[in-house]
Order: sequence, then structure tokens, then C-alpha cells
Amino acid sequence: MKNTVTTLLEQKKNNDKITMLTAYDYSTAKLIDEAGINTILVGDSLGMVMLGYEDTISVTMEDMIHHSAAVARGAKNAFIVTDMPFMSYQTSVYDAVFHAGRIMKEGRANAVKLEGGLSVCPQIKAIVEASIPVVAHLGLTPQSVNAFGGFKVQGKDTQAAKRIIEEAKAIEEAGACMVVLECVPEKLATYITKQLSIPTIGIGAGNGCDGQVLVYQDMLAMYSDMTPKFVKHFGEIGEAMKIAFQNYTSEVKSGTFPAPEHSFTISDEVMAEVTKE
Ligand code: KIV
Repeated sequence: MKNTVTTLLEQKKNNDKITMLTAYDYSTAKLIDEAGINTILVGDSLGMVMLGYEDTISVTMEDMIHHSAAVARGAKNAFIVTDMPFMSYQTSVYDAVFHAGRIMKEGRANAVKLEGGLSVCPQIKAIVEASIPVVAHLGLTPQSVNAFGGFKVQGKDTQAAKRIIEEAKAIEEAGACMVVLECVPEKLATYITKQLSIPTIGIGAGNGCDGQVLVYQDMLAMYSDMTPKFVKHFGEIGEAMKIAFQNYTSEVKSGTFPAPEHSFTISDEVMAEVTKE
């Protein structure tokens, strides 16, 4: 069954946790979809885990559309959320609606995600009015890494915690259908989850959210440049890949690969004809 804004809202009401993983390509999206994950995030984290940048700032609209369309071809049932890259919505309401439209039309997403609270409420309202579902993102918002001075937990003091609560209420009021809470204390995220009628998806926000998201390379131990405290390895796929690559090297060098079963045959008669001098 296709996951939609309505089914995700039902899951919140029924206390049925929502699963979300990132994906950036057709084959991974297909595997995630077949595993029954509710929603796929085509995150701008692709800048780091797919393209090797040190943050998400350099990711472009073309990057997001290219990867979103690939994911959409692979996922049948997962609800696809695609990130709006840095400076595609902060500049104006017009830019926000225009770029959200491109992500839907060309990237075939089911919703767009943007970072920020009160400052982006006019953008959220306008995008929703254009019939495009919006997922908000509060707490540690990686596009603001330079303003934050690094990837740090947010909302730990009274003022900061109150601000996140206020922003969460504001984005719901503006029409967001879901919100990602990143790197906020568990009790604060649980409180916000109870205050909102839309689902909250946590990453480094504890167990009280309506759902969880992880970057797939993090949960499969495929990305080692940075390992945040909230990451759990659900498989040692990075190591398994390395071993497979090493086995391939040994077999190619020793001549055991390709074996006869991996090769194509031709009749001796034809070979005799073509090699006749
Ligand atoms: O870009 C991304 O993958 C994200 C998640 C970390 C929530 O925004």
C-alpha cells in the first residue's frame, strides 16, 4: 500500500511508529521500499555521503532533482520526501514555491523538506497553498552549520528549548505535514511530539518521537568520516563491501574469475572459420 500524508497521520494517531531512511539512488530505494520502510528521505546529506563534501551547503537543485527522480523510479510504496537545498527557499517565497515545484515535477517527490522555523513559515504556507506537502526540520539544521559553529545538540537551555517549541507550533500552524527533529534532547522532543498533531520524526532526538530517520550509509556502517552519537549500525555493510572488493581483486589476479559459468561459448566450427588464415 502506498504511504501518504494521510496514512502517516493515521500512524501517529495509532501510535504506530513511522520508519524513514535516506536513499539517493534507484537500487537502494528499491531495497528500502521492498523492506517496507514507510518513507524515504532524499536528503541533502547526499552532499556528504554521496558526493564527499564536508557539509550540505554546496548541494544544488540539479543534484536533488537527479537523485530524487532515481529514488522515485525505485520506490513504489514509500512516501518520498526530498530536501530543498541551501538557498533554494531562504531567498524568497517565490523561490521557495518555484523550486518546490521543480522537485515535485522533475524529482517526482511526494513532499519537500526545508530547514528552519519561524523564518520559513511564509515559505511553508505558500508551498502548501500550491498543493505541495511540506516536511519541516528543526533543532540541528545542517544548512546552518556555519551559524551554529558546528554540528551540535540544540535546545539544551531554557531559551533555546522554548524557541524550538514555539517553532514547532508555528510550522504546524503554517501547514507542515510532518517535522524532523534533529539532535534535540529526548524529553524536549517527546514534549513537542505530544504538543503537535502532525508526526515528528527524530534523529538524535530519543525514543519519544512518532518515527525515526537515519542516513542509510550511517546505519550500514558505510560512511566513516563522521559518526554521531545517535547512529546505530544495523549491519556492517561497509566492511562486507571491502571484503568483497578484496576477494574480487584476488580472483581477477589469480585468474579464478571469470569461471566457465560466467563466460559465453561459441562453437568450434565457427571459431575454426573465423581464425582460418
Ligand atoms: O539530509 C538529511 O539526510 C537529513 C536527515 C539527517 C534528517 O536531513
